[in-house]
Amino acid sequence: MEYLIHKSIKIPLIGFGTYGLGLYDEITAEEENTVKAGIERFDMTLIDTAESYGNGASESFIGRIIKNYDRERFFIVDKILPENAFEDGFFTSCRKSIDRLGVDYIDLYLLHWREGLKLQSVVDGMENLVHSGMIKHWGVSNFDIDDMKELFDCENGDNCFCNQILYNISTRGAEYELIPWCKGHGVLVMAYSPLCHRCSDRLTVVENPLVKDIAALENKTSESLMLSFVIRDKDIVTVFKTSKKDRLFVNMQNVFSPITEEHYCALSQLFKSPQRRIKLKTI
Ligand SMILES: NC(=O)c1ccc[n+]([C@@H]2O[C@H](COP(=O)([O-])OP(=O)(O)OC[C@H]3O[C@@H](n4cnc5c(N)ncnc54)[C@H](OP(=O)(O)O)[C@@H]3O)[C@@H](O)[C@H]2O)c1
Repeated sequence: MEYLIHKSIKIPLIGFGTYGLGLYDEITAEEENTVKAGIERFDMTLIDTAESYGNGASESFIGRIIKNYDRERFFIVDKILPENAFEDGFFTSCRKSIDRLGVDYIDLYLLHWREGLKLQSVVDGMENLVHSGMIKHWGVSNFDIDDMKELFDCENGDNCFCNQILYNISTRGAEYELIPWCKGHGVLVMAYSPLCHRCSDRLTVVENPLVKDIAALENKTSESLMLSFVIRDKDIVTVFKTSKKDRLFVNMQNVFSPITEEHYCALSQLFKSPQRRIKLKTI
């Protein structure tokens, strides 16, 4: 694993996403083996989950796995639904998540999306959780540039640690303004769905002949090339999900070696970076 340092915290560049994991008994064992391989073989100790994933089932699934390891190894990211982000709701939701995960605290707690919430009350609720010791850091998800600016106008809004956003090789809208703004204001960008989330979208990339050629020349797979693309400057972290161990190895093949400038330019011809502001896409 390679890491970046953000606000003095060492954070893995690649973490495990858990959307859809731990929901079905018949495949849980395979999923568990995959996550364990991620931890043991690749040190994938950043784990991203949410109270909404299977109504807490994904948190419980992760809790059953991480109890076998030293808690301090992990950087656990969890998310609160906007509907629960009110005064007491912050404590109730966070307590339930902590209990399902079987930990004493969450490393990074995100507002899953804004849903028109007043941001000062979000900041206050998150700051209260930090002061209570239930979370170490707080952040947001799916916040576009105007939301970020409004957040930073709030008292303590600049304590926002991270904005988790949709960003991948074929969805590059955030490159124009949002990502530079976050970097310039000390907000970590965490890219979700780096493999394009949906099978059909992923196949559009991985089956492209140029992508295949570049991946082969870089000694990567098409999937690991997609991940390498997202973390290319080593100042963005990303979380992908797979339930299958063989795919984990496919995704991580030579993932940290930098893409050559020539290949980066060729990929950018294919998947263009926007030349104007585009509304942030979400899933
Ligand atoms: N904050 C938010 O609003 C938000 C939104 C979406 C996602 N997220 C987070 O980001 C994580 C990652 O995003 P994501 O799960 O949407 O999408 P992703 O990681 O881009 O792609 C996951 C999909 O790709 C498949 N896949 C992975 N590796 C593969 C391979 N080598 N070959 C073929 N298929 C492969 C997985 O299926 P298999 O499991 O069958 O391998 C899964 O269906 C989520 O799990 C979640 O933690 C956050």
